[in-house]
Amino acid sequence: MSQHNAAQFEDLADLYEDLSDWPFRRYIETPSVLERAGEVRGLDVLDFGCGAGTYASLFARAGARRVVGYDLAEGMLASARRRAADAGLDIQYVSLLGPASAAAFDLVVAVYVLPYAQSLPELQRMCFQMLAPLRPGGRLIALPIHPEYEPDPSYYEPFGFRMTPRRRADAHRDGEAIQLDLFYQQRFDASVRAWYWSADTLETALRGAGAASVRWHPPQIHAPAGAPPPPPELAAYARKPHAAIVECVRR
Ligand SMILES: C[S@@+](CC[C@H](N)C(=O)[O-])C[C@H]1O[C@@H](n2cnc3c(N)ncnc32)[C@H](O)[C@@H]1O
Repeated sequence: MSQHNAAQFEDLADLYEDLSDWPFRRYIETPSVLERAGEVRGLDVLDFGCGAGTYASLFARAGARRVVGYDLAEGMLASARRRAADAGLDIQYVSLLGPASAAAFDLVVAVYVLPYAQSLPELQRMCFQMLAPLRPGGRLIALPIHPEYEPDPSYYEPFGFRMTPRRRADAHRDGEAIQLDLFYQQRFDASVRAWYWSADTLETALRGAGAASVRWHPPQIHAPAGAPPPPPELAAYARKPHAAIVECVRR
């Protein structure tokens, strides 16, 4: 289960480092997540399933008081530690969340981690692990697969990836396995397996794990100051994003 996820991500650090620059992330996902996070100056932030540390680095640069990145894959953590050292960022990267992490953070961000829960008990456990580090009133911002993602495997190809449900008829059924192939600009060619969870199931799991409120936000196109304008083809992604943003407050 969790070991399976550590294994499937172990050698993908370079890809995930590179992925932070892909247009759908640069113009839609990243600014949408940062907008939701709001001002992080002075906050204690946990990047849950941090991968190569893309978000942990952004929060450290934005002035968070303490930033911790947590991941199961040592390969990801090694890459994240190297990047933080190169950039002179004070980020602690860990492969375990011990008792001291309970109720120790104001904000937990978990980008593309919920899709790797491969059973309902694992989803419930993951939600609990994401909410337990929050102080009461603290917020979780998580990105599951969008409950209404487009099941036509070719739809996301212009954006550098393909999502193929095991059975098209079950594309929006809880627990359905989805193959995610990543191949943007032929720079990479990797596949990982993810699992679909409906909005109801995600909300129930989050509330059961201690969320007082659950709100959904559509990722939106942003035009970052000083950057070239967003490529027009991103409008099709924004109409049917493959990931949603869900925000919860811990009881
Ligand atoms: C798709 S990557 C996303 C990485 C990063 N959040 C980003 O946006 O670039 C998913 C990451 O979640 C990690 N992961 C999966 N299940 C996890 C769990 N139960 N606890 C911690 N990390 C987990 C994987 O090892 C992988 O690095």
